[in-house]
Amino acid sequence: MTDILELAFSSFVVIMPAFIANSAPVLARGRHPMDFGKSMGDGRRVLGDGKTFEGFLAGLSLGTLAGAFFGYPLHSFLLALGALSGDLIGAFVKRRVGIERGQPAPLLDQLDFVAGALLFLYPVYQVTIEQVIFIAAVTPPIHLATNYIAYRLGLKKYPW
Ligand code: CTP
Ligand code: MG
Repeated sequence: MTDILELAFSSFVVIMPAFIANSAPVLARGRHPMDFGKSMGDGRRVLGDGKTFEGFLAGLSLGTLAGAFFGYPLHSFLLALGALSGDLIGAFVKRRVGIERGQPAPLLDQLDFVAGALLFLYPVYQVTIEQVIFIAAVTPPIHLATNYIAYRLGLKKYPW
């Protein structure tokens, strides 16, 4: 195998549970917001209605299961937990700077979950710098494409 293919394959194996954890929540159609509907001093929601307990649990279980199926349950659990936490932090930041739920925050929307995933994985497994660069480069276009599909399927209100 050529070096680039090997890099692509190893990066994909590592990040796959995070991708699944980040995509699954939209299927859960959650009704219970993780911020319990509460707002902060700035008058904006802590996280917003786009972050629900149902979505979080769907992402955590499906992401973990996917990695467990391929034989790395602990790694996939950390990746899924990190991906969902990164997404929550992304939503928190968006609300604080005044971006409404569902409105785009370029790069933050596409990279918050992979950053969270790799950070949570770090104590037990360290990806190489080449893998980090590869993942950071391919995730935004993949994320935009899958979100567009979810939008066309009527799962998401906006195409990003
Ligand atoms: N979702 C959820 N619970 C989560 C994460 C996501 O229920 N913990 C669901 C919500 O229905 C959300 C959808 O997955 O609308 C897509 O997630 P995302 O694009 O991250 O949310 P946005 O609606 O864009 O909201 P935000 O602006 O807060 O990122
Ligand atoms: Mg998000």
